[in-house]
Amino acid sequence: MAILIVGAGGLGREVLAVLEARRQPVAGFLVDPGQRTQPVHGIPVWDDAAIWQQRTDTQFAIAIGDGRIRARLAKTLDGATFAAAVHPGATIGPHVAFGDGPMILGPASFTTDIAVGDHVLINPGCTIAHDCVIGSFVSLGPRVSLAGGVVVEEGANIGTGAVVAPRCRIGAWAVVGAGAVVIGDVAPGSTVAGVPARPR
Ligand SMILES: CC(C)(COP(=O)(O)OP(=O)(O)OC[C@H]1O[C@@H](n2cnc3c(N)ncnc32)[C@H](O)[C@@H]1OP(=O)(O)O)[C@@H](O)C(=O)NCCC(=O)NCCS
Repeated sequence: MAILIVGAGGLGREVLAVLEARRQPVAGFLVDPGQRTQPVHGIPVWDDAAIWQQRTDTQFAIAIGDGRIRARLAKTLDGATFAAAVHPGATIGPHVAFGDGPMILGPASFTTDIAVGDHVLINPGCTIAHDCVIGSFVSLGPRVSLAGGVVVEEGANIGTGAVVAPRCRIGAWAVVGAGAVVIGDVAPGSTVAGVPARPR
């Protein structure tokens, strides 16, 4: 089944690279009506979602960095089939379950007994240890490290290189700054940064 990548920005091109590395056929990119429809890396760009939603031979890959927009698009595309874009260098151990449409953009490791929700964005170099739970629409920047038993609730966004200590809980839609070291729970919707991480 050919895959339509929703979003033709930097992340869309990263997802294209992953799908091409896996030799998965790409039908094109889908952008909002009125956006540029010039081909990207020779791949066609479409701006009419309705045509594609009627087709049963196409999967969607939502390649948008903002978790809230991913959540909205997933709702809009309800009933569609979503493709997994998992880089061939990713290491996925036993008892690791993913929801719809994960984007794993490079080598990242998931050890064992990990539950991952829908439409997550996992950047290269992330390490996810045993018994982590990652909610839907979560974004992990490059080289994020989650120790054992960490819970990242829906939509949380963890910045590049952040480290989260064992069993900490990152609340829904919280933001963790780049380079932070999280040693306690983070309240839903809050922003923390620094070493150790403190609310901003
Ligand atoms: C933490 C973060 C979300 C704050 O963004 P913001 O609300 O726009 O904050 P500002 O840039 O206005 O900075 C506010 C204060 O926090 C400090 N700060 C910002 N980011 C920080 C970080 N990562 N670590 C420590 N301090 C930080 C600033 O120095 C500033 O301090 P001051 O008030 O003493 O001057 C952002 O800086 C960040 O780290 N984002 C992660 C980006 C990332 O890694 N994305 C991954 C893309 S793939």
